[in-house]
Amino acid sequence: MKKRLLAILVCVAFAAVALFTTAVWAQKTKSGEVADTLEIFETAVFTKHKKSAVVFPHKKHSVDYKIACTECHHNYKDGKQVWKEGDKVAKCGTCHKSPKKNDGKMLSLYNAFHKNCRDCHKKAKKGPTKCAQCHPKKK
Ligand code: HEC
Ligand code: HEC
Ligand code: HEC
Ligand code: HEC
Repeated sequence: MKKRLLAILVCVAFAAVALFTTAVWAQKTKSGEVADTLEIFETAVFTKHKKSAVVFPHKKHSVDYKIACTECHHNYKDGKQVWKEGDKVAKCGTCHKSPKKNDGKMLSLYNAFHKNCRDCHKKAKKGPTKCAQCHPKKK
């Protein structure tokens, strides 16, 4: 009898831990849920990859480093930035559709990511700026 009770308690404990960790691993934002850490590996635009996926700690950036959503998320209407917290977030590659070469004024996805990520780190003198720090392996 005692054994059975113990088994039930163990199950309940596991279930509680599982619930708790999923709650912690997904950041709830006004624009929807996003994993605390993303692995960026765009396949719709980068049909061939030279580099490995990039680990991006989303929650650290938006919560711990207090970087505004609009440093990274935007949408333009008649040249004006109109995206605000609560609006849907589209993947960068939805709009930055060209893989490597800019399409007129529109940055390629390659340039959009590097301009956003690397240029901020360079300016802040914090965060990774070397290829291998973001792309740890060749592929
Ligand atoms: C430092 C840059 C940065 C900041 C700051 C940031 N994000 Fe993100 N966010 C990203 C990137 C990069 C992605 C992944 C985009 C992709 O895969 O193309 C993403 C993805 C998301 C997604 C997931 C979309 C999906 O399809 O799963 C949501 C939701 C989101 N962000 C909301 C927010 C909100 C709300 C804030 C502010 C509280 C915020 N983000 C701040 C860079 C950022
Ligand atoms: C809804 C379409 C759309 C999405 C989604 C989008 N962009 Fe853009 N982005 C644009 C447009 C349009 C411009 C050009 C704005 C202008 O007229 O200067 C731009 C400009 C930029 C620029 C250069 C200007 C600046 O703000 O420094 C960078 C860098 C950039 N995008 C990175 C990203 C990244 C990274 C993501 C994903 C987190 C992303 N974009 C998602 C449409 C989009
Ligand atoms: C607007 C500024 C800004 C943008 C945009 C930005 N970062 Fe950062 N990032 C930072 C800062 C600041 C730090 C370092 C904070 C510290 O060390 O205190 C950092 C740190 C990091 C780290 C190290 C985290 C750790 O645990 O030490 C990684 C990895 C990283 N960034 C990846 C990215 C990627 C990938 C992108 C683009 C999708 C990006 N960042 C966009 C500001 C930015
Ligand atoms: C701050 C982080 C950061 C740094 C530093 C960085 N990258 Fe990236 N890079 C990214 C992100 C994010 C992507 C989008 C990843 C994806 O979708 O595969 C990307 C995509 C790429 C791609 C296109 C996808 C592929 O696998 O072919 C290439 C090529 C690339 N980077 C090369 C480089 C080289 C070369 C350097 C050094 C000169 C460098 N990167 C430095 C973040 C970074």
